[in-house]
Amino acid sequence: MRPSRSFASDNNAGVHPGVLKFIAAVNQGHAVGYGDDAYTDRAVRQFKRHFGKDIEVFFVFNGTGANALGLRALTNSYHAIICAQAAHIYVDECGAPEKFTGCKLLPVRTENGKLTVEAVRAAYHGIGDQHHVQPRVISITQASEVGTVYRPEEIRSLAQFAHQHGMFLHADGARIANAAASLKQNLRAATSDLGIDVLSFGATKNGGLGADAVVFFDARLAADFRFYRKQGMQLASKMRFLSAQFAALFEGDLWLRNAQHANRMARLLEGKLRRNPNIKIVYPVEANGVFAQIPASAIAKLQKRYFFYLWDDEQSVVRWMCSWDTSEQDVEQFVNFVNQIVRA
Ligand SMILES: Cc1ncc(COP(=O)(O)O)c(C=O)c1O
Repeated sequence: MRPSRSFASDNNAGVHPGVLKFIAAVNQGHAVGYGDDAYTDRAVRQFKRHFGKDIEVFFVFNGTGANALGLRALTNSYHAIICAQAAHIYVDECGAPEKFTGCKLLPVRTENGKLTVEAVRAAYHGIGDQHHVQPRVISITQASEVGTVYRPEEIRSLAQFAHQHGMFLHADGARIANAAASLKQNLRAATSDLGIDVLSFGATKNGGLGADAVVFFDARLAADFRFYRKQGMQLASKMRFLSAQFAALFEGDLWLRNAQHANRMARLLEGKLRRNPNIKIVYPVEANGVFAQIPASAIAKLQKRYFFYLWDDEQSVVRWMCSWDTSEQDVEQFVNFVNQIVRA
């Protein structure tokens, strides 16, 4: 029998009961639409408590919308966005960032999924040349697509390089909660204090039902965002149900507990898998994902019981993600099954 929880993705998990409770609690009577309601005010206040009172924040339906529109706010169509080769904005958003910004994305090779100043410098050229796109944004993903986490000083030096060269630092924070938990930082220390200008804050993978926020650390950058959001079809009419999700995650620091738990389950999974000599963990496990190289012949057999994504076909690397609801028993059962198929 297929187990009810898999390791395919943290968005395959359900909604945390605490979030559902908040959604039910705001389902009372009528509230003004489009964000002019008391529940949205409350969620915005929570964001200001966590990120600082001078931010501007806008709620959207999903991470692709947050990224594409956040980037739109920073660019004109002749600009370029420097990102990692594996960046979600480059690989997994069906060209939405290109469509909404008109910009060229400049993918950069990375080790362990993280951009470095040296790599960005190599992509930063053609400045002032009318024949070239003009680099305007460095976009990082925190935690990265391969489950690694940028150290604070790595982000600080990317921000410094960006700002010295007339660029902005954008962060895709679909898993910012996992990164902050991993670094034992609060959300402000993990983002604006390091020089990030605009953040996509993901709630969906953190126990939400489906909500992301675009956080601007310099309010001036947000001047036109509400128009981009509406044109981009990301303005929720029944906004209170998005807002409730953030309020729930911030209340009692549920965001942190969910992220800590998912990270802990990934480390548990990693530790058990490492005992099998035919499995190689290919990236440091620093958030809630484990990337493993396994014999190619094992993949289809494992997928018969557990659905998961192949990360790198050629290298036979698979991605296993843990979630807020992954249990120790889930890990135990999964590893037992993996060991049956990938015999030591
Ligand atoms: C790194 C990253 N960014 C953004 C997203 C958000 O995508 P979605 O538009 O599916 O919410 C995801 C989801 O898989 C992701 O992994």
